[in-house]
Amino acid sequence: MAKKSATVFFCQSCGYESSKWMGQCPGCRQWNTFVEETVQTTSKGTGSKAPKEKREPSSLSGIEMQEEERMSTHIQELDRVLGGGIVPGSLILVGGDPGIGKSTLLLQMCKYLSDDGRKVLYISGEESLKQIKLRAVRIGEFTDHLLLLCETNLDLISETITRQRPEAVVIDSIQTMYHDEVSAAPGSVSQVREATGILLRLAKDMGIPIFIVGHVTKEGTVAGPRVLEHMVDTVLYFEGDRHASYRILRGVKNRFGSTNEIGVFEMRQNGLVEVANASEFMLSGRPQDASGSVVVCSMEGTRPILLEVQALVCKSSYGIPKRQATGTDFNRVGLLLAVLEKRVGLPMSNCDAYVNIAGGIRMLEPAIDLGIVLAVVSSFQNKPVDEKTVVFGEIGLSGEVRSVSMAEQRIAEAAKLGFTTCILPKASEETLRACGSIPKGIALKGVSSVQEAIKSI
Ligand code: TYD
Ligand code: MG
Repeated sequence: MAKKSATVFFCQSCGYESSKWMGQCPGCRQWNTFVEETVQTTSKGTGSKAPKEKREPSSLSGIEMQEEERMSTHIQELDRVLGGGIVPGSLILVGGDPGIGKSTLLLQMCKYLSDDGRKVLYISGEESLKQIKLRAVRIGEFTDHLLLLCETNLDLISETITRQRPEAVVIDSIQTMYHDEVSAAPGSVSQVREATGILLRLAKDMGIPIFIVGHVTKEGTVAGPRVLEHMVDTVLYFEGDRHASYRILRGVKNRFGSTNEIGVFEMRQNGLVEVANASEFMLSGRPQDASGSVVVCSMEGTRPILLEVQALVCKSSYGIPKRQATGTDFNRVGLLLAVLEKRVGLPMSNCDAYVNIAGGIRMLEPAIDLGIVLAVVSSFQNKPVDEKTVVFGEIGLSGEVRSVSMAEQRIAEAAKLGFTTCILPKASEETLRACGSIPKGIALKGVSSVQEAIKSI
């Protein structure tokens, strides 16, 4: 088949394809992200390789299905984020900053899978066998069911996978893989896209799960991210402050489960350790009797997590007050400050305000609104909030406190950790009282407006 090569421009941030160079990407609005790449196309297009079979449409009841047998990784936090274990034949992308612990997590997973007697293949394009061994020694003892390979050529990789027939495969960093037929450099959009396509076909044809490691660029996305994200079945991001020891594994997309789940890990001397009680972990080191510190309860998927919201409000020395939000939505904080100004009458426009979710976790759930507002008020008045009080509730523009979902689980988590008072939306309190499901040892204070909430502390 005749091959012709053409140059195409790709946005390195979102994968937008264009025949000419552009300063700003129309897809993601980033500047200066277009890079020229040569792509070779066969004149009939790449889709013509697959054999054509005539298929008849069928009804749902006509499709035979066995119960999907999921493989357990024996890392509970990982299993939960995956939706209850690994689905055979799925392609899973694990993204994260360099050095965050992606290779460590996947090597640990390989260890547990191979301890079960499953044949696992770990392919690294980044490290030598010796380097992998060094890491493996820190993690523990491995059986011979784990096979290692250093390779970056995808043809050789698919050949090895087909020959070895492992039960799970890890590809350590898709950015190092290349395919001969694509002339662009490894890590470029067209290489990453081609490589993922090949792995996708392998995973589906052979019914084995393939994990792909993807590095995240400065902007916080995997190189060629949108292209990658829609091709794979599951996207997990491994995040955390590199200077802190804990790491959070977050499901961003999952064709086989919920996407709201998170897994919490701690990086130790001998690899990653699961943190079963995330709330206790997140609250450790909380200041005593400090103003501007409030504990909120947020839901991550099916799991309640207690977090500390901190606020620092001080008089502004410039005309325009400074605002900063770390770990939560900047615009949301602006909105809540405006609600305080207009509905409560606090002179927020003369104050600088800094809001921080302690521990470096990112939390965007509206249920933490009430916590942010109370932390700001506490800092403004320089009065600490009782440290055994937990707060949750969404705030509307007229200053009303709106009910949130799963109030019962949130209160149960707070009670478990020894909190004695809970400030929550009035509507949620009434629902709870109606069904009589209030844990012992915790007093509920329902509030219907921001003013009421401020009075109650
Ligand atoms: P790594 O898995 O290589 O990160 P990634 O693959 O995401 O780039 O993790 C590297 C970091 O983890 C490194 O800074 C050292 C640290 N680490 C530990 O603290 N303990 C350990 O047991 C291991 C294996 C790594
Ligand atoms: Mg690595």
